[in-house]
Amino acid sequence: MIRSTMRYAFFIFIFSIIYFIQGCQEKNEKQNPVQQTGQTDSIGNPFGLAMTPPMGWNSWNPFGKEVSEKVIRETADSFVSTGLKDAGYTYIVMDDFWHGGRDSVTGLLYPDPKRFPSGIKALADYVHSKGLKLGIYSDAGTLTCGEMPGSYGYEEKDAKQFAEWGIDFLKYDYCFCPEYVSWNNDYKMAIRRYKAMGSALKATGRPILFSICEWGPRSPWLWGREAGGQMWRTSYDIHDFWDKPRNETSPIGILTSIDVMSDLGRFAGPGGWNDPDMLVVGLNNTGFIKGGGCNDIEYRTQMSMWCMFSAPLMMGCDVRNMNEATKTILLNKEIIAIDQDPLGKQGFRVMRKDGLEVWKKPLSGNRFAVALFNRNSTGKTLTAAWKDIELDSTKRYDAYDVWKHAPAGKGLSSISSALQPHETNVFILTEAKL
Ligand code: GAL
Repeated sequence: MIRSTMRYAFFIFIFSIIYFIQGCQEKNEKQNPVQQTGQTDSIGNPFGLAMTPPMGWNSWNPFGKEVSEKVIRETADSFVSTGLKDAGYTYIVMDDFWHGGRDSVTGLLYPDPKRFPSGIKALADYVHSKGLKLGIYSDAGTLTCGEMPGSYGYEEKDAKQFAEWGIDFLKYDYCFCPEYVSWNNDYKMAIRRYKAMGSALKATGRPILFSICEWGPRSPWLWGREAGGQMWRTSYDIHDFWDKPRNETSPIGILTSIDVMSDLGRFAGPGGWNDPDMLVVGLNNTGFIKGGGCNDIEYRTQMSMWCMFSAPLMMGCDVRNMNEATKTILLNKEIIAIDQDPLGKQGFRVMRKDGLEVWKKPLSGNRFAVALFNRNSTGKTLTAAWKDIELDSTKRYDAYDVWKHAPAGKGLSSISSALQPHETNVFILTEAKL
């Protein structure tokens, strides 16, 4: 008897807690009309942005708190002089710390007067005069991750301000969001916060590419397009490491980013891309965000795999001072063409054995890109027959090596490569005319 009374009391207690949490959520929704709008509105991609993965540069890893108009102007100049612009890199994005503050009277954001003395509009004009586009950074919470003013509650004002300045790209972070009640609640709130900014950007009438940066825990690949985003981060920040496993929010390395991307291919395509974060190529353990540094073989693997993924190619080194190896990697037009292929299919892993992997990406014109990747810290030879990598074993293919810029064989029934530690070789396969 006593037992069943206790059980009864226990159930009543649990139901009261559930009822209380639901009540809080409803109250919160009623109190905030911006959230209401965001909840029902599907923003989509009204300006047809990012039909191929966005390409550009971001200030965070090389410059962090020292981003300035001088750096941005010189970066724009280097885009032109080094051939980056001709290779397709377009967006120059100022990350966190461009801010001076928010005006207490007008409520408008303004840039740091020392580092941006000419203002953002003049800077955008300069970047546009070079045939390039300017990006900016804000946050869905009250503060950015660097504790600068965030856009929470100021979505329309800030979007309008960005449009008036001539901004073409907004990276939107997720620190200091004040609405956290429970995990489930936070998931819904994140969608609403991103929709609030997505709607505000759309309402400006200016095509502003919307880059969602909540790092992946709330599966933005499921709702990013609906919130108006054209790319969404799949993982926490990448730093200049080859292998640094994920734990909660710590930065990760190239290898972990590759593994996170392996399951997400079906969510990417024209107008909406999985974003495994910036290229660390060329950082060589310098800049604001230091890792352990990678070697050029590892940087080449990052470039290869990001292109196999149809990932946004956002460079993260100081492009004013690239060495020859970095230029060779970032300016390889053949690997970039794989990234930018109009089919927009993310590549997927088709073989994994003894630390050797084959990734396959369908390309336009009935072609395939195939990446042969060695995770091991020793050199290995990898051979894959067509049947091992889900290709028709009765067919023969001609292969082209995109890093050697040379044919790699005609009428082949398999592909083979001797790979150094952490090396990736990429081939384009075209069906052979027999
Ligand atoms: C992080 C973001 C980084 C960078 C940084 C700025 O949340 O993932 O890419 O933007 O904030 O504070």
